[in-house]
Amino acid sequence: PSNGKPDLSTMADYITKGGVSSVVVMVGAGISTAAGIPDFRSPKTGLYHNLSRLKLPYAEAVFDIDYFRKQPEAFYTLAQELYPGKFKPTLFHSFLKVLEEKGILRRVYTQNIDTLEEIAGVEADKVVYAHGSFAENHCIDCHAEMSKEDLREIMEKDDIPRCKKCKGLVKPDIVFFGENLPARFFKLLDNDLSAADLVIVAGTSLQVHPFASLPSQVSCPRILFNLEAVGDFGRRKTDVIRLGACDEGIRDLADQCGWGKRLTELWES
Ligand code: OAD
Repeated sequence: PSNGKPDLSTMADYITKGGVSSVVVMVGAGISTAAGIPDFRSPKTGLYHNLSRLKLPYAEAVFDIDYFRKQPEAFYTLAQELYPGKFKPTLFHSFLKVLEEKGILRRVYTQNIDTLEEIAGVEADKVVYAHGSFAENHCIDCHAEMSKEDLREIMEKDDIPRCKKCKGLVKPDIVFFGENLPARFFKLLDNDLSAADLVIVAGTSLQVHPFASLPSQVSCPRILFNLEAVGDFGRRKTDVIRLGACDEGIRDLADQCGWGKRLTELWES
């Protein structure tokens, strides 16, 4: 490029000329907004700006474990809306599958609980649900498990799921503020970050730790696809920042890699 700064075409060359074998992707709610799922912090459309009907003391209380103990109704109102199954993967999700097919996807670290990564066809062992998911549910007191089917049935009757053993509150294994991230996150993270030769970050405000610090922990080239600049992107000469809708950015990168046709096929399938 004329100004000497790397751009998407530099990255496409780096990827397709054999320089890349281990891509780590770090994503958040912004990669699913095109599927119709609101993100959290976008002005006007984000969930945290639209929760007044839940009468929360502050927006993030809906995912706060202490507040959940007192007022589980707020979370369950939201959970019914966000429950996976009704949404279709976006172009960005299908790009993850393209990377996997090319044999260069090391891992996707997602903060999302919509499981659209796997619905797009990405193998389960390539995905780390950093903030958990709806896959399992446990009593917050005695930790007994409740099946997905039972939880869903109770939730859809507008009831609050309670433990059959101790009557404690049951909650999907989504990581709330005040809870630890899943063990799998910590087990894989260090090796994945040292192995990465390209990091792609997309659709996240990088506001929530420890996830927020992941991009700054790598030393390889990084690409950001986001509506706004986030984290420490831009401080490194090797960073490529593509502001705008991530589906448009990823379409551009896929085309420049010569993968556009495959991306469309996967997305339409
Ligand atoms: P946020 O809502 O904080 O950030 C979403 C980011 O994606 C913002 O920077 C948006 O500008 C951007 N964005 C939205 N639509 C986009 C699009 N079509 N293309 C590109 N960028 C887009 O969501 P997260 O960063 O995922 O935690 O939030 C992190 C965590 O905070 C969530 O996992 C959740 C929340 O509290 C828990 O539920 C525990």
